[in-house]
Amino acid sequence: MQVKSICCIGAGYVGGPTMAVIAQKCPHIKVTVVDVNASRIAAWNDENLDNLPVFEPGLDNIVGEARGRNLFFSTDVDQAIDEADMIFISVNTPTKTYGKGKGMAADLKYIELCARQIASVSKTNKIVVEKSTLPVRTASAIKNILDHTGNGVEFQILSNPEFLAEGTAVEDLFAPDRVLIGGDTSDKGQEAIQALVDVYANWVPKERILTTNVWSSELSKLTANAFLAQRVSSINSLSALCEKTGADVNEVAKAIGLDSRIGSKFLKSSVGFGGSCFQKDILNLVYIAKTYGLNEVADYWEQVIIMNDYQKNRFSNNIVSTLYNTVSGKKITFLGWAFKKDTNDTRESAAIQVADNLLNEQAQIEVYDPKVIEERMYADLDYLNTRTEDENRSLLKVKNDPYEACKDSHAIAVLTEWDEFKTYDWQRIYDNMLKPAFVFDGRGILDTKALEKIGFVCYSIGKG
Ligand code: UDX
Ligand code: UDX
Repeated sequence: MQVKSICCIGAGYVGGPTMAVIAQKCPHIKVTVVDVNASRIAAWNDENLDNLPVFEPGLDNIVGEARGRNLFFSTDVDQAIDEADMIFISVNTPTKTYGKGKGMAADLKYIELCARQIASVSKTNKIVVEKSTLPVRTASAIKNILDHTGNGVEFQILSNPEFLAEGTAVEDLFAPDRVLIGGDTSDKGQEAIQALVDVYANWVPKERILTTNVWSSELSKLTANAFLAQRVSSINSLSALCEKTGADVNEVAKAIGLDSRIGSKFLKSSVGFGGSCFQKDILNLVYIAKTYGLNEVADYWEQVIIMNDYQKNRFSNNIVSTLYNTVSGKKITFLGWAFKKDTNDTRESAAIQVADNLLNEQAQIEVYDPKVIEERMYADLDYLNTRTEDENRSLLKVKNDPYEACKDSHAIAVLTEWDEFKTYDWQRIYDNMLKPAFVFDGRGILDTKALEKIGFVCYSIGKG
């Protein structure tokens, strides 16, 4: 079977870039991305490519090339489902905030809604592809809904987890380490797998396209994120020890990373990992393990999250204790709010927890981030429900100019590793701050020796 028309439900950080790249690489396939959020679709259709809802380096050019040719963004979900041979589900699967599995399990209500909608609209056979990260065996639940509520058409379910990282999504999609496709072992399942392999084979070398059974594929995604996050928590745990002993965590990371069995990636100590996936997927893994009575397995992985929370709190505690045990009424500047550089995404960003802790200590925070908008920061804080919306807006201010944000400040905290922070005129910043002028580098990106020469008092994660 040759796929001619693809529909993707969910025009978010994953659906948008992934479909844009498929459309660019496969001009013979019509790709329609749909979403229930009309303003998001309008932003994807904006003439001005600076206004796309997702900021990713290089994405604007790809959308500019393919949009209107074979890439379309629409709110008409039914029509796109009806037309498609292959439907990707790329809606969000947040951690449940209610009921059984609250705070741990993935909330699958949007996935179920999608399945029901696909079942009711479809008049021809479809291949349904799980792009969203899901608990193991979700595919069989989707299949069940499709088979029992559909109009007698045949559905094949594939799992095709996304491994792109935000900030490098386009590069990752162009040259993935691997593409993983899980499907049914029956002949029809294998045909469906082949149809999706053929789509990716338009630009991905065949040896990088891996096929497995559905459950291996679903579990591999959770496991990949858990392993990556575990590396960050491991090095972060050592950053605390380095600070006590006088070792330098960057030197330790380099020394161990040169061992080819360990490797050098994901060993950068930080104020804590964020992003929509790591925490959610590990909690999901922990929940699944507990469900099967594997409590030791659950505890083992939960420790990765506990260490991450510790790291975020350790950073804010250190600011308070260094500023003579009180930050009440003191201005503290945040450079960065996004969970990593080169993205406007803030989900689970360490900055949110650090800000919340410091606001509890009655600090006055001013934030500068090159890509995150003011409303997003307030939404992140309001979501925590720690204080009223008015209090959040009066205690935390957002600035569009970094020098303005640093003026008259007691301390600067670097929360995101944006490259531009390294190039600032730090002498000018120093001259306009209160003294002693403190810098807390939560990302280890600044040249602290140079800053100390200017007169700053510096703290850098993991340096004794
Ligand atoms: C994705 C994956 O789907 C998630 O499982 C993975 O773990 C993280 O990445 P992402 O693209 O980052 O999610 O999420 P988001 O940017 O929130 O986009 C999801 C979109 O789906 C939203 O625009 C939302 O409006 C849309 N949606 C949600 C629908 O169109 N229909 C629904 O029923 C629910
Ligand atoms: C992650 C996975 O990398 C990706 O494969 C999956 O599809 C989605 O989840 P993402 O969350 O977008 O991607 O970004 P990632 O680069 O993994 O960073 C996650 C967090 O870890 C960020 O907050 C980052 O700053 C932090 N991190 C990463 C570190 O603190 N140190 C490191 O060495 C690497």
